[in-house]
Amino acid sequence: MAECPLCETEVSLVDVGGIERFAHHGDCSGSFSQRDLVETNLESRYTLPSDLCPHPERWTSEDWDSAELEVTELVAAFVGALRPDLVVETGSAFGQTARAIGYTLKEAGSGVLHTIEPNPERAEITRGECKNLPVVVEEMSSLDFEPPSKIGFAWFDSLVPLRLPEFEHFYPHLLPGAIVGFHDTAPHHGTAMWQGIMAQETAGRLLPIRLHTPRGVVFGEVVK
Ligand SMILES: C[S@@+](CC[C@H](N)C(=O)[O-])C[C@H]1O[C@@H](n2cnc3c(N)ncnc32)[C@H](O)[C@@H]1O
Repeated sequence: MAECPLCETEVSLVDVGGIERFAHHGDCSGSFSQRDLVETNLESRYTLPSDLCPHPERWTSEDWDSAELEVTELVAAFVGALRPDLVVETGSAFGQTARAIGYTLKEAGSGVLHTIEPNPERAEITRGECKNLPVVVEEMSSLDFEPPSKIGFAWFDSLVPLRLPEFEHFYPHLLPGAIVGFHDTAPHHGTAMWQGIMAQETAGRLLPIRLHTPRGVVFGEVVK
């Protein structure tokens, strides 16, 4: 046990490969963090170096659940470059990426984001973060959401096993040429998502590109 300096509570320590980490303790960003990096914003406090991404310390993050800040910026930049009418995000968490997309849409002067989050506390936090932005928080499970019109950009970032089913669910609503993003595609999250994405490519439904960020991210063009 040791005191997490962020929430000042006593937390179990877990030894993973000789590295001490704080065990999960709710929404505190000290959860899963390396003990000696817990007071930094370096992504390396959560993600170890790998062959695909040898320098996770070059990225930053607010917590273990919100995307790397640089990945959030990239998602918002896609939206700014593509100027879609309808954007969908699965998994709002604390509204980090929803807020970034919302600012971009507001600046563009067109488009709306529907961000989906079934956890009521997180949905409420996201509503606060996205106040006065063109963002609708949908408090439900992603697979229950039926979009009001065709989607130009989608960001799949809910639970890892849900992200391929989300692509299948939203595929009929995605415009030809829409861009989609799948978060957490790095091998330490399991290989099923990348294999499923390649199966979509083989089926002629997606043209993917894999980026070697700490948690891994794939963007792809929707083919119809
Ligand atoms: C990785 S976090 C999302 C991070 C966020 N997109 C960001 O970029 O900051 C995953 C979120 O998905 C939510 N979630 C869990 N089950 C879900 C479901 N069935 N549909 C949509 N979201 C879900 C979790 O509550 C959690 O807040």
